Amino acid sequence: MIELRDIYYTRLGTRDLEGAEKFTTEILGLQIAGKTKDRLYLRGDNKHHSLCYFLGEPTDHTIAFELSNWTDVNNALDQLKNSNVTCGRGTDAEAQDRHVESFIWFLDPTGNRIELVSRPHDASRRYFPSRDAGITGFGHVGLCSTDPARDQAFWLDHFNAMVSDWIGQCPLLRVNTRHHQMALFATNHKGIQHINYQVAEIDDVMRSYYFLKEKNIKIVFGPGRHATSSGIFVYFEGHDGMIYEYSNSDRKIIESPQDHRPRQFPMHPSSFCVWGAKPDIAEFQD
Ligand SMILES: [Fe+2]
Repeated sequence: MIELRDIYYTRLGTRDLEGAEKFTTEILGLQIAGKTKDRLYLRGDNKHHSLCYFLGEPTDHTIAFELSNWTDVNNALDQLKNSNVTCGRGTDAEAQDRHVESFIWFLDPTGNRIELVSRPHDASRRYFPSRDAGITGFGHVGLCSTDPARDQAFWLDHFNAMVSDWIGQCPLLRVNTRHHQMALFATNHKGIQHINYQVAEIDDVMRSYYFLKEKNIKIVFGPGRHATSSGIFVYFEGHDGMIYEYSNSDRKIIESPQDHRPRQFPMHPSSFCVWGAKPDIAEFQD
């Protein structure tokens, strides 16, 4: 069993780093943590970064989790190898690029690239946002899955992942007491389906809703409240068409993981929003 502490960062390829910088700083509200000719690192909390855009294919997505135990890198790699999972160790140069001391990577059954990092770097100064979006940190990702039941079994077999709730066949998974760090959504391809940043309160969600409308950013869902995490949310289209979400879902803490009963919600718009907002997002439709 590989113990994960939390989701840590995402990496997204892009052909347009300038556009990525404009969107993430002027709209999303992240802070630039570093910039090279082919990299843009962004932070939204006390980590060195939680998002890295690199010069590459816009379909090239990676997510990373932090290992609970920093001495566990070799064990984790052995376990994945023994289970015939496609995996490997990151080089020193690759670790440097990610601002971590070491990491391994693997492909989930859908083909998503996941990195497991040890001793990721923290920022020495407090987060100073580029705009006051109320961001408190990186929350979770929606991950594309070509078979959510199969991929759920993979995460439950190899990791300390637990199901918090289901919507249809799609599980919302957690590796700590917060409601979810990852949700697997059924599609016919790999990749990140959406990226969530947590905001402090409902006022931040609504303030951003009006801000995004004013800036002609396409709102694809919300404002609304999730039936699962009870988080208040707004989803919008970002750079290269990636869907970003602000929500305060992390307020839902699973205090007693062993006693938590995962709820089964049907694949229906009302399971995504109890207020009646209809998603303009393919994977959220029945
Ligand atoms: Fe979400």
